[in-house]
Amino acid sequence: MKRIVIFASGSGSNAENLIKFFRNKDNVSVIQVLTNNPHAKVIERCKRLGVSCLCFNKADFHETQYVLNLLKSYNPDLIVLAGFLWKFPEFILKVFPNKVINIHPALLPKYGGKGMYGKHVHQAVLDNKESETGITIHYVNENYDEGAIIFQAKCKVETTDTIEDITAKIHELEMTNFPKVIEKLLFKEI
Ligand code: GAR
Repeated sequence: MKRIVIFASGSGSNAENLIKFFRNKDNVSVIQVLTNNPHAKVIERCKRLGVSCLCFNKADFHETQYVLNLLKSYNPDLIVLAGFLWKFPEFILKVFPNKVINIHPALLPKYGGKGMYGKHVHQAVLDNKESETGITIHYVNENYDEGAIIFQAKCKVETTDTIEDITAKIHELEMTNFPKVIEKLLFKEI
C-alpha cells in the first residue's frame, strides 16, 4: 500500500479530491493530513471524510523536529502540498528526497514565488493579459515554486474572463489532473 501525507493551509478542496479518489483504490491511501492553520476548512473536510488531520505551528515545523518526526513515523511514499502556504524546511526535504511535490495554479516559471498563491496568481494573469494559464505539479526544493516540473496543463484565458472564471478553470484542471498525476508518479509511470 502506497502512503500519502497531505499538507494544506486553507479550504482543502484538493485534499478532499485526493482522499476521495484514492479511497476507491486498494493500493494507495491518504493516511494523514497536516495543516498549519487551526481555522482551515480542510479540518472540517477531514472530519467528515474520516481522515486524521493534525495542526502544527511554526516552531513545530521550523525550529523543532516535531513535524519531521511525525513524517518519519508515517513512512510516506509521497508528501503532497495541496494549497500549503509555508515554505517547506530544507532539513525536512533532505530526509525525503524527491518525495515532496506541490501543485501551483499557474504555468511555472511564470507567476511563482512568495505571495503568489490562489487569487493573487489569477489577478496577475489577468493584469498581464495572458492568453493562457494553467497548473503546474512540481517537486519541492528550498525555493518557492522552483523545483523540477512533473506535469503542466493549460487553459485559455478569454479577454472577457473574470477572476472567478479563471478560478473555476484552474479548479477544474486541478480536480481532473492532480490525482491521476500522483497515481502515475507513485507507480513510476512518469
Ligand atoms: C489551489 O488552487 C492550489 O493550486 C493553490 O492553492 C489552492 C488551494 O485550494 N496553491 C498555491 O497557490 C501554492 N502557491 P484548496 O485548499 O481548495 O485545495
